Amino acid sequence: MDLPVIDLDIFLHNPQDSPQVQAECKRAAEGLIAYGALVLHDSRVSEDDNATFLDLLEDYFAQPEATLKRDERPELSYQIGVTLENTEKPKCAVDEPCLDVIARLEPAERPLDVAGHAPDPKCRFFWRVVEKPPYETQFPGLNAPNVTPEAPGIRERWTPVMDQWGSSMKNAVSNLAEMAAIGLGLPAETFRDAGRYGPHLLAPTASDLSKYGAKDTVLAGFHTDLNFLTIHGRSRYPGLNIWARNTGRRIAVKIPEGNYLLVQAGKQLEHLTGGLVKAGYHEVVVNQATIETIERRKVERPDRPLVRISSTFFWHLSSDFDLVPIPKLVEEARRLRAEGFDLGRDEGRDVEYAPMKVGQQVQSELKHIALMAS
Ligand SMILES: [Fe+2]
Repeated sequence: MDLPVIDLDIFLHNPQDSPQVQAECKRAAEGLIAYGALVLHDSRVSEDDNATFLDLLEDYFAQPEATLKRDERPELSYQIGVTLENTEKPKCAVDEPCLDVIARLEPAERPLDVAGHAPDPKCRFFWRVVEKPPYETQFPGLNAPNVTPEAPGIRERWTPVMDQWGSSMKNAVSNLAEMAAIGLGLPAETFRDAGRYGPHLLAPTASDLSKYGAKDTVLAGFHTDLNFLTIHGRSRYPGLNIWARNTGRRIAVKIPEGNYLLVQAGKQLEHLTGGLVKAGYHEVVVNQATIETIERRKVERPDRPLVRISSTFFWHLSSDFDLVPIPKLVEEARRLRAEGFDLGRDEGRDVEYAPMKVGQQVQSELKHIALMAS
């Protein structure tokens, strides 16, 4: 993987105006602009916490469907609790600009399949890791309280494990948001403050590999995330592909062992930067490496459910925040686009980033992916 590796430790242990911190922040911003993604190193993050989290979620999703269904909240657009398989549609299957993006990719770099228009065979759990706003939100539905599963053996473990891993990921990604702001020439707190009361979600997805383990199965179709920044811990099974914006190349993600995480830009970051940073496209598929891991896991841990859990956290801007592109970055985005065009890089039609509340942007995205009734 040729993604930049950004060291959060440098940022945490040196004065903000020191040359090392300034340089590392610049690299973070450049990584997000060029790739829409980067690898983040944070010594505070523990691989053991990730493993404990993955074990819990494997056990949770191995429960009968009828038990899982009790944790569904369709009336809240599934923005809390569980979403069962074949509910969410990959946005690309219904979105024309996204189909344009695919058409512009070299055929060898295109995603596995988006023409099927089928919902994703993945389940997910949304667990909020939030700070309560000191004001009434205009979007209570997007800020509903957590659902705790009730099954004995899971219930007792749930909250501490989810909160421990959730806050590790949240700390890492909110510090990276500060680094990105500094690297873009903005005050450090710009993004962090805008997301202070965001409905951040620890959002593991689960794919049953005993059912959906055949090569080239699409577990999550080609799409971008609707939030600000997404951060991933290591999954036990490979299969996540991301697309680097500047080259259009597909990159199979391999997060190094240790205290490393993958960060990807989402739609809110794209909107706020006027397209200077673009939300990163990705998919999750069953590839040869996934199959080899399945076979190995069957031998090494025959007692464990064959479920691929993604260790994902969605960092959001606050629902009531005004999502308006920052003028200085809009200028920079224009310059970069013109420069890319001169180099023969066609990024398609100009996108208009209309001012709106973050909550409105989220609701409109949810309608697109079939989680919210229009
Ligand atoms: Fe995603």
